[in-house]
Amino acid sequence: MGVKRIAILGSTGSIGVNALDVVAAHPERFRVVALAAGANGARLVEQARRFRPEVVAVANERVAAEVRRELAGEPIEILTGAAGVEAVGGWESAEMILSALVGAAGLRPTWAALRAGKPVALANKECLVISGALFMEQARRSGSQVIPVDSEHSAIFQALYNGRREPVSPIDATHDAAGVRLILTASGGPFRGWRRSRLEHVTCEQALAHPNWSMGRKITIDSATCMNKGLEVIEAHHLFGVPAGRIEVVVHPESIVHSMVAYADGSVLAQMGVPDMRTPIAVALAWPERISAPVARLDLPALGSLTFGGPPDPAAFPCLELAYAALKQGGTAPAVLNGANEVAVEAFLKHAIGFLDIPRLIQSTLEQSAPDAMDRIEDLLEVDRWARERARAWIARHGGGSQVE
Ligand SMILES: NC(=O)c1ccc[n+]([C@@H]2O[C@H](COP(=O)([O-])OP(=O)(O)OC[C@H]3O[C@@H](n4cnc5c(N)ncnc54)[C@H](OP(=O)(O)O)[C@@H]3O)[C@@H](O)[C@H]2O)c1
Repeated sequence: MGVKRIAILGSTGSIGVNALDVVAAHPERFRVVALAAGANGARLVEQARRFRPEVVAVANERVAAEVRRELAGEPIEILTGAAGVEAVGGWESAEMILSALVGAAGLRPTWAALRAGKPVALANKECLVISGALFMEQARRSGSQVIPVDSEHSAIFQALYNGRREPVSPIDATHDAAGVRLILTASGGPFRGWRRSRLEHVTCEQALAHPNWSMGRKITIDSATCMNKGLEVIEAHHLFGVPAGRIEVVVHPESIVHSMVAYADGSVLAQMGVPDMRTPIAVALAWPERISAPVARLDLPALGSLTFGGPPDPAAFPCLELAYAALKQGGTAPAVLNGANEVAVEAFLKHAIGFLDIPRLIQSTLEQSAPDAMDRIEDLLEVDRWARERARAWIARHGGGSQVE
């Protein structure tokens, strides 16, 4: 394997920083050519000085001025705004794009990568939730390989394709025909086993204290509500072409088995490892090679035992069922679910609504929408905007932190 030129969308975030760790451990294999971030100018500047990319993009125009000042005289192009970030998605000299922006902001830049026919290492699950069928169709049309970074999907990807050298097509339709079932593991988050009545007054701080994973704030709240697992069910459906009825969720508090594939012959293949995102990132960046990753080794005797339980209680964690329902409804329903969830999580983080208001708000937004089939990305972004407006209106009516102690 020669040197692979990488562009990172979301380099200043949790996945981005972990990815740069993996890249730094393998200077003979990877070169960073492009970085994109939102508003963390200081971290972006530090990364640019260290990795010397051809270009950096910063979405926030005010922060961009500071980045320009700091990098003046360096041979690094500086792009700004959403258009700048999108340009990094399709950056010409990049041979792989790591899509690690958070939320719907990842959609256009990741589409730019697909349109340019680049392989995409995909962490940004929201873009698949919003536009799954269109996204995979675009990947197929332009011959882009989509390699999952999300640990569960990386586990499934590895179980399905380990040892295969030729490029994997975005959807291998035989998974459906072969009766494959996907078993997504869920840690259960900080409130695993809690009853609904106990959840009404939990605080942001409690919800942000994930027992196993250190991640960005949005996905950490999604883990606490179990919406993260719901988004992952939708993501798995699109990535692997398996119907919702054959995607199950089991709770596995230790987060050692990252997910499993069950075959019709009774075999169940699992992928294991310590909960550290640098493993699935290394898998995606180097695929189909295997490289070392700067992670602790799995010590099974020290762990002693692994435990599993049924899916989360739907009364306490309705978000998972809302996601299954949106997937079954199809069309624009998952985009509405995602837009409402993003607004709800942001409001919860600002103490404007309570924890159980998150599913209430999403359900109300879904009930107001009429799911429709869309075949243009612009139309889906319009649906996303509509869902956000409805969600904000809900907060105006019900919010104010009344549910928060
Ligand atoms: N973290 C994990 O362990 C993990 C695991 C599996 C999947 N994922 C998925 O990976 C994605 C990233 O998660 P994360 O935890 O890394 O999130 P994060 O720590 O919040 O980082 C998000 C990144 O996106 C950038 N960003 C946000 N809004 C932007 C905008 N409008 N334009 C340009 N850049 C923007 C941020 O820039 P600034 O910080 O500079 O503002 C940051 O670099 C999410 O879709 C998440 O679900 C994460």
